[in-house]
Amino acid sequence: MYSFDQLKPLLLNSNLSEGKLIKGIHQIQHSFTKELERRDEYISERDLVSAYSSFYFPTNFVKLEWGFSHLPESFVEQLGETHLIDFGCGPGTFGLAWLEFFKKGNVTFIDQSDLMLKQAKAFLRFFHPNTEATFSKTIPLIEGPITLLFGNSLNEISLDDAHDIIERVRPDHVLFIEPGTKLVYQQLITLRKKLNEKGYMTHYPCLGDKDCPITKNDWCHQVMRTKHHDSIERLSQKAKIDRRTMPLTFHVYSKEQRTGLYQGRIIQFLRESKFSFDYKVCMGESIVEIQLLKKSLSKKQQKVIKETNVGQEIKFEVVKKVNDELFKAQPLLREG
Ligand SMILES: C[S@@+](CC[C@H](N)C(=O)[O-])C[C@H]1O[C@@H](n2cnc3c(N)ncnc32)[C@H](O)[C@@H]1O
Repeated sequence: MYSFDQLKPLLLNSNLSEGKLIKGIHQIQHSFTKELERRDEYISERDLVSAYSSFYFPTNFVKLEWGFSHLPESFVEQLGETHLIDFGCGPGTFGLAWLEFFKKGNVTFIDQSDLMLKQAKAFLRFFHPNTEATFSKTIPLIEGPITLLFGNSLNEISLDDAHDIIERVRPDHVLFIEPGTKLVYQQLITLRKKLNEKGYMTHYPCLGDKDCPITKNDWCHQVMRTKHHDSIERLSQKAKIDRRTMPLTFHVYSKEQRTGLYQGRIIQFLRESKFSFDYKVCMGESIVEIQLLKKSLSKKQQKVIKETNVGQEIKFEVVKKVNDELFKAQPLLREG
């Protein structure tokens, strides 16, 4: 959680008066919601980049961790091993949130605005002085597994451009943290189809890859409720912009099979090996074999598993789908 006092000395204009800051925040908000044709201004004027970085940076920053809390832990761990491309990084919002979350990482910050990149560099240098990162207007060639993140930037580019970027980068995972608007929903529903065709599976928020059942005039988004540092809350009150209740669109696509929480009924004990307890489980629509990994269990938990009987229900998180009928999993056991 950042305070305004922490950010202020790092701003491109660190002498911005409070009056100008609030005026700038209003101007930015207006250009996001009403005067879309003036949207270029906030990235090309030092005072407006500073206003964005004082208010939208700290209030967007928290959305990454919120999003991760909705994904299986094992999947988030996997993301942490990839190189992040923060596309439309602005002042470095989600790349910095990524480094803060994982406490390490390789990040490439991409933005069309020199001023935004300059601000992102200043934040990185201060908050993560030992981290090397790339700042660029174009996406460089990157080796190894990649996560491509669009952070409030998909809504500023065309769908064709977003599609081209994905085609070029060929990331393993694609994340979107965007405004919770109908327009973004419509963009993503179209993009989702193309991503599915390219072998990406929807990991969040949809429960599968079938057509979205939401009717034409409606749309799907999430809402994050939070409280920011008192100094940011103060800016929020002065600017009369609510950032405690934030509608957002969080979508996750991946080449990896979808994992997640499952519940089934144990119908057969198969074997205990050096690495796992193996069961046949009825999932309602299908029967699967699950290997409950010993390395994820304490001695006490292994004892609970050994005492589990056929006929009992079991909740588990899939760590790896070997195929549609064989999962490596971690059981969710009640404490005590
Ligand atoms: C609303 S800001 C989001 C900044 C940051 N990701 C956040 O969520 O706080 C959108 C950013 O996307 C950048 N952007 C828009 N179109 C772009 C493009 N075609 N290439 C690179 N950056 C772009 C803008 O310059 C701006 O900094």
